[in-house]
Amino acid sequence: MWSLLKKLPPSIVALLLQTAAVVLALLTLNVIERHDSAFLFAVLCGLLAATFSFFAGLAKWWLVIQLLFAPALVLMLAVNLPPTLFLGAFLILLLVYWSTFRTQVPLYLSSNKVWHALEHLLPVAKTDSGFTFIDLGSGLGGVLTHLASARPDGRYIGVEAAPLPVFWSWLRIKLGSHRNCRVKWGSLWDCDLSQYDVVFAYLSPVPMEKLWNKARSEMRSGTIFISSTFTVLDQAHHEIVQVNDLHHSTLFIWHM
Ligand SMILES: C[S@@+](CC[C@H](N)C(=O)[O-])C[C@H]1O[C@@H](n2cnc3c(N)ncnc32)[C@H](O)[C@@H]1O
Repeated sequence: MWSLLKKLPPSIVALLLQTAAVVLALLTLNVIERHDSAFLFAVLCGLLAATFSFFAGLAKWWLVIQLLFAPALVLMLAVNLPPTLFLGAFLILLLVYWSTFRTQVPLYLSSNKVWHALEHLLPVAKTDSGFTFIDLGSGLGGVLTHLASARPDGRYIGVEAAPLPVFWSWLRIKLGSHRNCRVKWGSLWDCDLSQYDVVFAYLSPVPMEKLWNKARSEMRSGTIFISSTFTVLDQAHHEIVQVNDLHHSTLFIWHM
C-alpha cells in the first residue's frame, strides 16, 4: 500500500492519511467510550496522522503539519472567528500558491544578492535587439525588474502560474516603467525555450529532471541555463556561483 501512496502527490497522501487517522480515532474513542473532549480527539487524530505519514515516507515538514492540523482546527473553531475571515485567508493563499499542491514548487524569493550575481552572468548583447532572458516561475518579478534596470540591453520575460504574483509583477513593471520587461500568466512547460539566450529557474528538486530534458531539447547551443539552489542529478554543471546570502544560495550554470 505504501508503494501505491508514493505514486500520488504528497498533499493527496497527507489528506488520505488524515482521513484514515480520523476514522481510527473515532473507532478508538468509541471502543474506550470517551466522547467528552473534542481536543483529545483532535490530538489523537494528529498523533495517528503523523505516525502514518512517517511510515508513508512523507517529508519531515508534513509530519509537523499532520500532527498540528486537527488540534489547530479545534482551537481555531473555539476562538469563534467569523467564517468570512477563513474564506478570505483561503482565497488569498489560493491566489498566491495556486497549483503548488500539484507542482510542488511554492513561492519563495531569490535574495537581492542572487539578483546581483545574475547581472554578471548575462551575455554581452551582440545585436541591436540585445539578448533575451526568461525567469521560469517568476514569482513577484524581483529578478526581472532588477535585471531590466541593471542591464537595459536585454529583454526580460517572466512566466508565472499563480495569479496574484503575476498581477504583482505586472504592477511592479508598470510602476517601474520597465519597457524591456514583461510577465505572462501561464505554465513554464508551455514556453518555447529556443527563444531565449538565458533561461533562469528557481523552482524545487521535483521538476528539475523534466526541466533539464526540456532545456536540452529546446535551448540553442551557446545559450545559458541557470538554476538557483537546485541542481540536476547526474548532470555536471559547467560553472557554479556561491552567493553569500542568508540561504547560501548556489547558482548552477550550464552552457548549452
Ligand atoms: C521559488 S519561486 C521563484 C520566484 C522567482 N523566480 C525568484 O527567483 O524570486 C517559484 C515560482 O514558480 C512558480 N511556478 C511553479 N510551477 C510553475 C509552472 N509550472 N509554471 C509557471 N510557474 C510556476 C511558483 O508559483 C512560484 O512563484
